[in-house]
Amino acid sequence: MNIVRTVVRGCGGYLPERVLTNDDLAKVVDTSDRWITERTGIKERRIAAEGELTSAMGANAARAALDDAGLAPEDIDLIILATSTPDQTFPASAVTIQAELGITHGAAFDVQAVCSGFVFALATADNYLKSGQFKRALVIGSEVFSRILDWQDRSTCVLFGDGAGAVVVEAQKLNGALTDRGILAVSLRSDGRYRDKLYVDGGPSSTGTVGYVRMDGPEVFRHAVTKISEVIGATLTQSGYNASDIDWFVPHQANKRILDGAAKKLGLDPERIIITVDKHANTSAASIPLALAQGRADGRIKTGDLVLLEAMGGGFTWGAVLLRW
Ligand code: UT7
Repeated sequence: MNIVRTVVRGCGGYLPERVLTNDDLAKVVDTSDRWITERTGIKERRIAAEGELTSAMGANAARAALDDAGLAPEDIDLIILATSTPDQTFPASAVTIQAELGITHGAAFDVQAVCSGFVFALATADNYLKSGQFKRALVIGSEVFSRILDWQDRSTCVLFGDGAGAVVVEAQKLNGALTDRGILAVSLRSDGRYRDKLYVDGGPSSTGTVGYVRMDGPEVFRHAVTKISEVIGATLTQSGYNASDIDWFVPHQANKRILDGAAKKLGLDPERIIITVDKHANTSAASIPLALAQGRADGRIKTGDLVLLEAMGGGFTWGAVLLRW
């Protein structure tokens, strides 16, 4: 009992009801189910209902995670929401979720690292919990990218979807063994030289508008596999584990070709990758907790499994977390 580890107690997801298929999109822009499937692995995505907010979706995912953990809202003293699509420029949508859950103690704030947001938020919670400043955190990813897409731009509008996912993490005193549960290793990276490769062309201090997603897809793709592989390698080295030890690889879900490429480069078993991109498309910061919720719900991820999370997104930002569930 000599080390504090950040242990996952539960997770949950929320998806809006409306399904938008590739065939539906082909009626709006010059694209096809075949192109989208071959280039990305995406078949369909969910779209938030009119008036359905990031905070409301995040609160739904948070409730599901609390249920899974067998905990009540008052057991939580930290909420970190990863999002690039907040309800408003300020306040942070995390405080709206806090209020919706009826929590009046502790702290709540947003983290903005686009598609890497959940990994950055989980790493942030890990540090707060390990330092003893907070005891139990809700780490949430919630996004309504459908509201920042240019629906005339076929190179971006087919790639994204809406949704939310959440985990409850708790500080636990453990032995410090490699076989302990909890977060074992974290690596975060950013390189702002690439900030114009994937961005939104608006903002409070520039245009005064919200803006739309713009992406140099092939350039992002070119960097993705190398950057992801490097950060995973560094995380494994830090932990003392090898790629062959991993039970479940739960990557950010941007493009199946990127996931397959990274898995191949690292020698990860393709059967051990949790893939939701076919059903959810790219839900940015929500994609990893949604995939975790899927893997838990269908019985794949079990207590004690070694789970590797990884993401890369606008900034560029990228990172990985290795944890024992
Ligand atoms: O989560 C954040 C991280 N984001 C990513 O990881 C995204 C990374 N990038 C990608 O996933 C891929 O680059 C895309 C899926 C975005 C694009 O795939 P690609 O194989 O790199 O295609 P491309 O952009 O080079 O486009 C190939 C062709 C072009 O036509 P020409 O110039 O060859 O005639 C495009 O105009 O495909 C065309 N195209 C489309 N065709 C049908 C682009 N978008 C579409 C579309 N439907 N939706």
